[in-house]
Amino acid sequence: MNIQPLVGALGAEILDIDLSVPLAPDTLAAVRGALFGYQVIVFREQRLSLEQHKNFARQFGPLHVHPYIMAKPLDGHPEVLRVVKEKEDRRVFGEKWHSDVTFLERPVLGSVLYAIETPKQGGDTLFANMYMAYDTLSDGMKALLEPLVGVHETPVPEVDPATGLPFEPLRLVNARGEHPVVSVHPETGRKLLYVNSTYTTHFKGMTVEESQPLLDYLFRHATQAEFTCRVRWAPGTVTFWDNRSTQHLPINDYYGERREMHRVTVET
Ligand code: OGA
Ligand code: MN
Repeated sequence: MNIQPLVGALGAEILDIDLSVPLAPDTLAAVRGALFGYQVIVFREQRLSLEQHKNFARQFGPLHVHPYIMAKPLDGHPEVLRVVKEKEDRRVFGEKWHSDVTFLERPVLGSVLYAIETPKQGGDTLFANMYMAYDTLSDGMKALLEPLVGVHETPVPEVDPATGLPFEPLRLVNARGEHPVVSVHPETGRKLLYVNSTYTTHFKGMTVEESQPLLDYLFRHATQAEFTCRVRWAPGTVTFWDNRSTQHLPINDYYGERREMHRVTVET
């Protein structure tokens, strides 16, 4: 397998591999190793049906169904989340730095995002390395953060943003997760900083106002340029990220063009 690191902080491209067929055991092990080693792995020029996309992801764990986005247009494939920006849309899905669904008690292992349609230029995605975010803190700050627990919440909208349809109330439970601010990655055993500006609202046992200054510092610290890589997309690009050790940010720098991605997410 030909692995080309993207930049200093994280990310690699994996060349010469076809994701549409089951991976041989040693190839699968190498891809897993690259996922947890590089945290973000990028594949080019893939052609995946919905089933092939899901089957690729299933080799890494059970598939996750997003708790409140139903992606109605892909009926029969509830595990495939469509991430779409229409020509006339001004906003994108996932507007601020985040890890996915950290408002759940058990956040997910990672997501496999497959580009269907992309703008001529723009619409890249930034990723940031949360091991580096932790490692570069001072010993004093590390000690201060060690006992803290972050509360991650999301205001669940009344209608599905993807379809405009009202939610079944059943899907709305469990929109609050509590996670140690310094978390240990279950695969690598490494410590990482686990707060993000989209979902972490405060520290457990403290108010939102009390938490805000330190959280704001951590959000800025965690997403500085030196800790990031930038993935450029074309139709057929597949990016698989380790959702526990990274955050990501879609860049909303294109207008009047359509972008469509399919996301399949793997549970822990
Ligand atoms: C996501 C997401 C980023 C992008 O699918 O979780 O945040 O660039 N997408 O579309
Ligand atoms: Mn996201």
